[in-house]
Amino acid sequence: MKDVAVIGVGCTTFGEKWNHSFRDLFIEAGALALEDANLSGEQIDALFVGNMSAGRFIEQEHIGALIADYAGLATKHIPSTRVEAACASGGLAFRQAITAVASGMSTIVVAAGVEKMTDITPGQTVDTLASAADREWEGFMGATFPGLYAMIAHDYMHRYPLTREQLAQVAVKNHFNGARNPIAQFQQEISIETVLSSSLVADPLRLFDCSPITDGAAAVILAPLEIAKQFTDTPIKVLASAQASDTIALHDRRDISTLDATVEAGKRAFHQAGLTHRDIDLVEVHDCFTIGEICAIEDLGFCTKGEAGQLTEDGVTALHGDLPVNTSGGLKACGHPVGATGIKQIYEVVLQLRGEAGKRQIEAERGMTHNVGGTGATVVIHILGAC
Ligand code: COA
Repeated sequence: MKDVAVIGVGCTTFGEKWNHSFRDLFIEAGALALEDANLSGEQIDALFVGNMSAGRFIEQEHIGALIADYAGLATKHIPSTRVEAACASGGLAFRQAITAVASGMSTIVVAAGVEKMTDITPGQTVDTLASAADREWEGFMGATFPGLYAMIAHDYMHRYPLTREQLAQVAVKNHFNGARNPIAQFQQEISIETVLSSSLVADPLRLFDCSPITDGAAAVILAPLEIAKQFTDTPIKVLASAQASDTIALHDRRDISTLDATVEAGKRAFHQAGLTHRDIDLVEVHDCFTIGEICAIEDLGFCTKGEAGQLTEDGVTALHGDLPVNTSGGLKACGHPVGATGIKQIYEVVLQLRGEAGKRQIEAERGMTHNVGGTGATVVIHILGAC
């Protein structure tokens, strides 16, 4: 297998983008990534597009072909594949692209993610998102994603020492980082009081514990490491790519406050990279709800179960803490266009490793991304390193 590098990245701004269509978003992110890699579209061999639910969000299926067509690649007839794993679609598209390059099947490959979530009513959007859970046993019984993560939060807070203020601090930290990220949906800092006084969504989760509904797209370009310097002075090497699955329904889990797929994929990623937790300088985790970030830090093994709330309160996960978590603002403040999120996480880590993260720049040589589908039925983890 060949070593693989990221040679270009691009991302739209995230938010409610009324003036941009689904295809506009993808084309903008793709063009930015091509420009970043000093490439033209004709040099692309294959395309993998993460997208969760264009069929329900914009009534469009056959996304692989649509994207290739609007990227001007239809007459080149390149293979273009849609990848779907709910909110982990982007991370999984990246993994498929790595496999294509590492195997020698393709040379220059685009991994992208795109979602246009705001063209339907919020109720329809929440219902579409619920289709990532078990429709028969969860969705039809009325469980929404905020509801499912609220159950995790209740269970966690019953068993482990996590205060409501520590949970709120996750959102405060991520809004602080989002305020330093020009692509973020929310660019305002907030206080613990903002979170605690916001409307209750699903007890104990309030509005500011939730990621928002977002439009956006991100794209990255991969090539064999051995030729990466032809395109960029700062290739970023893929050190590990791991994926794990779990039961789709939360109630079937061994322990609903531990995402076993995160635990397993995390172990595989560290083993593949030959690294330990101390070697990781930043992590982009899947904070679709504040409790998601608390569980992720622990399930990835950065601390033991029950410690993440205190670490967050102590500033360990803050921008300039010992382990910066979600320097982009995370899903909470940067936004969560579900199919694009996994690629945006890669985009953020690449910017940090290249020293191009502007006001939120930290010192980093290696970064990790953690992308979750559903309540943890799919988890995709990557480790990237500066060359
Ligand atoms: N955090 C902070 N502010 C938010 C927000 C969020 N998550 N979601 C919306 N807002 C703000 C809006 O900007 C708007 O502010 P304004 O009045 O100043 O313009 C206000 O709150 C109302 O926005 P609206 O779009 O009407 O919110 P809503 O009540 O329809 O939706 C949620 C709020 C929390 C229900 C929705 O964002 C949601 O379902 N989030 C979870 C998404 C999800 O499950 N993703 C998949 C996870 S796996």
